[in-house]
Amino acid sequence: MKKAIVVYRSHSGVTRRYGEEIGAALKKHGIQVEITSVGDCDFAAVAEADYLLTGCWTSGLFFVLQHPDEPWMAFVRDMPETKRPRVGLFTTYKLATGSQFPKMRAALAGKTNDPVFELKSRNGHLSAADEKTLEGFLADG
Ligand SMILES: Cc1cc2nc3c(=O)[nH]c(=O)nc-3n(C[C@H](O)[C@H](O)[C@H](O)COP(=O)(O)O)c2cc1C
Repeated sequence: MKKAIVVYRSHSGVTRRYGEEIGAALKKHGIQVEITSVGDCDFAAVAEADYLLTGCWTSGLFFVLQHPDEPWMAFVRDMPETKRPRVGLFTTYKLATGSQFPKMRAALAGKTNDPVFELKSRNGHLSAADEKTLEGFLADG
């Protein structure tokens, strides 16, 4: 059975909900799923996973300067180089994600495999398009 770990950083709960819905969708496809906040994440579980899905709420000045917040950045800094899992990213936002995903990618560069998808949501609920993206991700191996 393939294993996925969903690691989220949420300030007020929306990104946690999105992470939980992503995890539930993966379970429907027969994947063993662990869902954890960045603070509770066990790096050994990340190293053993086939899939790492990590997400953070979008912080910034709404139209510019979006970035992942410090607890998510600290999670990436503290994570040992982990090249086993295939990686996908997610975020929640209100107006624009702008530089959020480029900043997340830059933080992960060299630490993990390059992320192969980006999912974003305003309300923390998985859309039909998101489900298709996840299906494609799993179908690729
Ligand atoms: C201080 C602060 C800055 C924010 N900056 C942005 C932003 O630059 N762009 C945006 O679209 N949403 C922005 N938001 C909205 C949040 O990204 C959005 O509400 C998100 O879903 C919160 O996720 P959470 O409930 O997991 O913390 C900001 C929210 C706060 C509190």
